[in-house]
Amino acid sequence: MTAPRSADARAVDLTVAHVDVVATADDVAAAAAARVVAAAEHAIATTGRFTIALSGGSTPKRLYALLATVEWRSRIPWSHVDVWWGDERCVPPEHPASNYRLAREALLDRVPVSPSHVHRIRGELAPRAAADAYEIELRRALATPQGPPRPAPGARLDLVLLGMGDNGHTLSLFPRSPLLAERRRWVAPDRVDAEPPWRVTVTAPVANAAAAALFLVAGRDKAPMLRRVLRGPYDPWELPAQLVAPTAGTVRWIVDAAAAAELER
Ligand code: 6PG
Repeated sequence: MTAPRSADARAVDLTVAHVDVVATADDVAAAAAARVVAAAEHAIATTGRFTIALSGGSTPKRLYALLATVEWRSRIPWSHVDVWWGDERCVPPEHPASNYRLAREALLDRVPVSPSHVHRIRGELAPRAAADAYEIELRRALATPQGPPRPAPGARLDLVLLGMGDNGHTLSLFPRSPLLAERRRWVAPDRVDAEPPWRVTVTAPVANAAAAALFLVAGRDKAPMLRRVLRGPYDPWELPAQLVAPTAGTVRWIVDAAAAAELER
């Protein structure tokens, strides 16, 4: 199969992506926390609410824990926040691999967000059913019952937090997956080459309608892939993280020195 090409699969000059290199993984969390607060302030000033999609994996755990501290948690008006996820593993919400459980334990149980404003992907359902239910809920929240996501205030995610796997995946969009070419569905299931294998993920159009995409990458093991994604040829079929290029928004990478070790080689 050839690489996914469509109206929005433009060749993105990732060399102009905002890349903030900080010293340590803790510095990644601190820099990201400041970006989350700023995004929340802007969104709430504009539309009265802040819609954020959390990512899974281990890197964002430091950010979630920091946002829950006394120093940070009062800087976000949690009553105006809607929490979503960019992807989820197809496991029950209390499973150790659940992205929802990760965020609930590190952050959501520690801040005054309304439970009705926490929109988890129901990993306990069959993958397709979980994806369909989440898409219905997300479409309703973004006032777009049909058609593609609209990059307009109130009709899009304000901030999508993202990680990058050492194989170049992001969300649960993995290399050479047919989902990389998905432009109609907002949410879809996929069987991936990772544990747990079944995932539910938002597709590229949802991320690319967002006001801001924020990648958090830390660790020396990510350095070769980070160089390929940010400095190599545009090849989203092999490097799904390159698909993320919001059409009317920003993409920023906050990376630690270890992950950036090969960027300027
Ligand atoms: C997931 C994430 C995934 C993650 C990357 C990086 O469900 O695992 O959404 O896309 O962001 O795998 O994970 P780390 O931060 O643990 O390296």
